[in-house]
Amino acid sequence: MEEIIKKLNGCLGWEFRAATMYSHYAAYVTGIHRLQLKAHFEAEATESHGHGDIVRAAIVKLDGEAVTERDSTEILHTTDYKVMLKEAMKTEQYAAESYQEVLNMIKDDDEMYDALEQIFFDEARSVEELKRLS
Ligand SMILES: [Fe+2]
Repeated sequence: MEEIIKKLNGCLGWEFRAATMYSHYAAYVTGIHRLQLKAHFEAEATESHGHGDIVRAAIVKLDGEAVTERDSTEILHTTDYKVMLKEAMKTEQYAAESYQEVLNMIKDDDEMYDALEQIFFDEARSVEELKRLS
């Protein structure tokens, strides 16, 4: 159980980091692509908060203590949308891998499995989208 809570807290901290990264990039993205990417990054930030809420609820359900700090991995500052998309790709790939690992650990809780599988699908979809964007 401790292992699952630890893993879920890793996911939660990563969602906090993703939310901050996307909000930051929405504010700083420059050039003609700002027209589309600002809204895209804002939507991704909102999605990350939503994912975080689901993960936190799972931690609460397991009687664990949820983290309140973001993962300490640096958020690269840039105004270049290409760099942003590359960083977004790294972030989403890591998230997808992490959720895949969590899913392997919680197979006996159907409700939790379904909720976290939905997040995994979201991250996997983001990775596919980013492949087409860059
Ligand atoms: Fe997410």
